[in-house]
Amino acid sequence: MSRLWDKGEALDAAVARLTVGRDPELDLRLVPYDALASAAHGKMLVRIGILTDEEAADLLDELKGIAEDAAAGRFAIDPADEDGHTAIENRLTSRLGDAGRKIHTGRSRNDQVIAALRLWGRAALLDFTEQLLAVVAVLSDLASEHAATSVPGYTHGRQAMTTTLGHYFAAFAESLLDHLPWIDAAWKHLDRSPLGSASGYGVALPLDREYVAELLGFDRVQSNTLAVQNDRGRTEAMVLGVVAAAVTDLGRLARDLISYSSEEMGFVRLAVETTTGSSIMPQKRNPDPLEIVRAAAVRCRHLVAQIGDTYGGVGAGYHRDLQLTKEPFLEGMILATDCCTAMASVLAALEVDVERCRAAIEPAAAATDAVYREVRAGTPFREAYRKIGRDPQGAYRGEPAASWRERTHRGAPGDPNGGGTDPRHAAGLAWHDERREKLAAAWDRLVAG
Ligand code: ARG
Repeated sequence: MSRLWDKGEALDAAVARLTVGRDPELDLRLVPYDALASAAHGKMLVRIGILTDEEAADLLDELKGIAEDAAAGRFAIDPADEDGHTAIENRLTSRLGDAGRKIHTGRSRNDQVIAALRLWGRAALLDFTEQLLAVVAVLSDLASEHAATSVPGYTHGRQAMTTTLGHYFAAFAESLLDHLPWIDAAWKHLDRSPLGSASGYGVALPLDREYVAELLGFDRVQSNTLAVQNDRGRTEAMVLGVVAAAVTDLGRLARDLISYSSEEMGFVRLAVETTTGSSIMPQKRNPDPLEIVRAAAVRCRHLVAQIGDTYGGVGAGYHRDLQLTKEPFLEGMILATDCCTAMASVLAALEVDVERCRAAIEPAAAATDAVYREVRAGTPFREAYRKIGRDPQGAYRGEPAASWRERTHRGAPGDPNGGGTDPRHAAGLAWHDERREKLAAAWDRLVAG
C-alpha cells in the first residue's frame, strides 16, 4: 500500500522510519475507534450530499469489519502505510473503490487521530475507574473486617498512637473515592467531538458536526476548529494527570504494605499467588506487584510530564511532535488500570496477622490517650502532657484497644459510626455503568442513526 500523500517522490528510508515511529503498533489500539469515527463521518457525508446511501452503507459494513478485525488482532498496519488512518483508508479504497476515495472528504488525519484518542480515552477512563472502584471495594471490606484489629499508627515512620487496621484501610478507601469528581471532569473534557476541525481551519463544505457528535455519543462538539487541534496532548495530559494522582495513592499504599508484610513487621502476609519468587534464594516470596505499583505511580507522573512538555513546546495547530504524546498516554492509561487490577487481587488475598499487629504496639504508644484521660478529668493539657511524659511507658493499660476506643469523635479509630460504606462508591459504580452502556451501544446507534 502507500502513504496518502505519496505523489511519486522518493522518501529517505531513515526519515520514513523516524517519522512513522511506533505508529503501526500503537495505532492498532486506535483502529476500532478510528473506524467508528469514520463510519459516523461517512453518515454525515450522506447528509451533505457527498456520499450516496449505498456508499455509506458499504463503508459502514467495511468499517465495522475493520473494527472487529482490529479487536481480534487480525488487522495489520504496514509501515509503508505510515499509520492506522492510512491503513483504514487504503483498505476501504481497495475493497470499495470510490466510496473509499471519498471518505477523507472534510477531514484530516489530525482530527481523525484526536477523535480516535478521545473515543479510546473514554473507554480507557472507564476501565480505569472500574478497577479503581474494585480496589475501593476490597479496601472497604478489609476496613470493616479489621475495625477492631489494633495496630501501631505511625508518624515519621515511628510509632505514634494505637489505631486499627480498619481505620488504616478505610483511609485509603476514602482517599481513592476523592478522585471521582476529577475523573468526571476528565470525562467531560474527553466527551467532546473534535471531528470537523479538519487540519484545524475547517473546510468549504457544510459539515454537520453536531450530527457526528450525536452518532458517536459525544456530549457536545468542541467548537473552534483550531482549539480542537491545540487540544492534542493537552487533553491527554489532563486525563492521565487525573489518573496518575489516583495511582499515586495506590503507590503509597503499596509502599506501606511492602513494609507491613516484611519478616520484621509481619502485620500482613501476601498470598503466594500475589508474590513472585527468586531464581537464587529458594525461600523467597517477593512483593513485586506492590513494587511495580510504587514505581508505576512515578512512571505515570513522568508520562504526564512528557506529554505536557511535548504539547507545551509547540505553538498552535498540528505539529508532528504531537505524535509522540500518543505513546505515553496509551502506556500510562493501561499501566494505571493494570495497577488497580493487580492491587485489588493483592488486597483481596491479603492475610492479616491480628496477633502480630497487636504485639507490635509499644507501650508508650498509649501515652497520648493517657494525657487525654487527665484532660477529661480537668487537668490543663500541658500539665498532663508533662506528667505522662515523665513515664510514657507507664501509660500502657495492657490492652491497646482500651486506648483507641476512647477516641470516638467523627473519623477517629474508635468512632462508633465510622467504617460504614461510603455512598460515593455506589454513586461511582452507577456513573461507570451508565457510561459503559452508552459506549457499548456505539455501533448499534450508528447502524440505526
Ligand atoms: N500519525 C499521526 C499522528 O499521530 C497522524 C497525523 C499525521 N498528520 C500529519 N499532518 N502528518 O500525529
